[in-house]
Amino acid sequence: MSTGPVVEMVEVGRDYHRGGEVVHALVELSLSLDAGELVALVGPSGCGKSTALNLAAAVDRPDRGSVRVCGLDIARVAEDELVTLRRRRIGMVFQAFHLVPHLTVEENVTLPLALDGRRDADRVRGLIDRVGLAHRAGHYPSELSGGEQQRTAVARALVHQPRVVVADEPTGNLDSRTGAAVIELLDELRRSEGAALLLATHDAKVAAAADRIYELADGRLVGCG
Ligand SMILES: Nc1ncnc2c1ncn2[C@@H]1O[C@H](COP(=O)(O)OP(=O)(O)O)[C@@H](O)[C@H]1O
Ligand SMILES: [Mg+2]
Repeated sequence: MSTGPVVEMVEVGRDYHRGGEVVHALVELSLSLDAGELVALVGPSGCGKSTALNLAAAVDRPDRGSVRVCGLDIARVAEDELVTLRRRRIGMVFQAFHLVPHLTVEENVTLPLALDGRRDADRVRGLIDRVGLAHRAGHYPSELSGGEQQRTAVARALVHQPRVVVADEPTGNLDSRTGAAVIELLDELRRSEGAALLLATHDAKVAAAADRIYELADGRLVGCG
């Protein structure tokens, strides 16, 4: 496994424009995520966690400062390079699961491979088995519990062997026991796959699993431990 940062942000600024007003969502944020690490971003709603995760996932670009993801300076590279980076190297887990409703568990987990023009039925079935959903492989998201939906999303996030997984409040729609089980599963899988995980949460128990915790307030880093 390679070492060194897979995500490196240096003095990043990101603004949103709302009406005539500018919202400074991130202000001079510097952080790094090394290969194989689990890092948590914590802080109250609106502090900039999702904005930071979108930069780490190369879904968005910074207004100021630099963001390197797997060695690419995402403010500078062309959009098609970002698309390839996201397809090959990034996995995402969301609070509201974001499964495709008209696809089965198996089809949802296949999606990242299919988007990259690949097929690997054994890999897909193996991961579905590891998240404990072999008996649900042919089911649709509406037929699953919240925990089962999020386990499907975890398998989907890892199927293409990403270097970086970002998880935005992945336990936010789950009860605490189900949420803890999902985090345990996500952590176990990303370790065995050698991926780094950047996790946004406002649950201190979830953050406790992290190698490092960055605390944000009003878009600024106010603590790191
Ligand atoms: N698309 C957007 N347009 C305008 N303001 C936004 C947008 N997305 C986020 N914001 C604002 O940016 C700040 C940071 O938001 P966000 O990163 O979503 O925080 P968190 O994930 O910690 O709740 C908040 O003030 C929020 O209202
Ligand atoms: Mg958020």
